[in-house]
Amino acid sequence: MPQITLDGQTDWHGWRTATRALVLSKVPPEDVHWAVRSDAHDGGNELPAGANGFHVPRTLVTLASLALQARDPQRFALLYRLVWRANEGEKVLQLTDDTDLHRLHRLAYAVRAEAHRMRTMLRFLDVEENSNHRFVGWYAPAHYVLEANAQLIARRFPNLLFSIVTPDGGAHWNGAELRFGEGADAFVDDAALARWWQAHHARLWREARAGASIPEAESLDEAPRPPDRPALGPVVLPVHADPQTLEATDSAAACRRCPLHQTATQTVFGEGPEGASVMFVGEQPGDQEDVIGRPFVGPAGQMLDRAMEEAGIDRRTVYVTNAVKHFKFTMRGKRRLHQSPEAPEIQACRFWLDVERVQLRPKLLVLMGGTAARAVLARPVTIGRERGRPFHMADGQLAFVTVHPSFLLRVPDEDAKAREYRAFVRDLQQVRMLMA
Ligand code: URA
Repeated sequence: MPQITLDGQTDWHGWRTATRALVLSKVPPEDVHWAVRSDAHDGGNELPAGANGFHVPRTLVTLASLALQARDPQRFALLYRLVWRANEGEKVLQLTDDTDLHRLHRLAYAVRAEAHRMRTMLRFLDVEENSNHRFVGWYAPAHYVLEANAQLIARRFPNLLFSIVTPDGGAHWNGAELRFGEGADAFVDDAALARWWQAHHARLWREARAGASIPEAESLDEAPRPPDRPALGPVVLPVHADPQTLEATDSAAACRRCPLHQTATQTVFGEGPEGASVMFVGEQPGDQEDVIGRPFVGPAGQMLDRAMEEAGIDRRTVYVTNAVKHFKFTMRGKRRLHQSPEAPEIQACRFWLDVERVQLRPKLLVLMGGTAARAVLARPVTIGRERGRPFHMADGQLAFVTVHPSFLLRVPDEDAKAREYRAFVRDLQQVRMLMA
């Protein structure tokens, strides 16, 4: 069985070279074993020599270049299988019910969403370097999107010296060359990031490896937020933070505290500005949130946005999160239907909610629906009885219970729906007054 060892998690060139040789030599997908080497590559793979070329649809190449950046150990084999099948004459891209194609689309979509998310969420710290400014940012990407994003930012802002540090590695641009080096797990705050930078940066240039191999995919043509401007959108808190208490592998993106990570696309963490005084807590990400990687962006999120706007709350000023950070669902045909999380899942994820609460220290917690209320108050809550009446919790924080916006989506009768919506907006108006 040929073993192909790639030079890194995003070794597009290596994967493509091996794939070409293997397909031309008619090595079937089930005979190939793919691996990733973490240390320096000394030799090459023993690749069979094949004759002539073959054609792979351009769209498949584009999707493959994205999916290759997914944090999924099976992706190399999946992509090879698809290329193999295309070369065998199958019109793989036109199939409507194909597990491989479905997986390819999901991975490509998730990578694309994460690349975008990283660019909008990255905050940079201005550190001095030989009387120049260098902008250093830390982020824990759900997928291997560091290299492609660093290339993109370097192209767009060639004069800006920047470093992006992630748990997978760091990318450093010096105005002429992009280099990749070691990463870091997390920083408690900006001062810790600055200290890390001071301690490492001399070594970084010695040890960094040059170059990057991710091709330009169509999805990467969106303009990143220039690092030297203030954040336009929400800002991610440095949540995977306390190295004293958290294991490296326990960052939210890699959380294995309950089984929901097995089926969800990614962890969906809360988001909002660092100084937010109010934290809105929902239940768990839905289908769209799971793919995009941000809370409350689907239908319930749109309902929440609309009600907030009517109540005079600017969503960009509050922190929005969920009691559970992974999407729980059951398959009905091709559809993923929401399933409510159960007590052990809520309990397991309470850890992350507590991390968010400790780091943000909001004055007010808005608990939307039974799951959020139960997660925070640690007791069953009857929403109808407790909604709209703010109260202090044991730690002095103010809590406010209201309905979950997706409850409004489910009310079948239009008049009742309108009444419930008005009641929700009234609750949010109270929240706005409590925020003042
Ligand atoms: N429902 C939630 O509780 N949270 C989301 O993020 C989306 C839908």
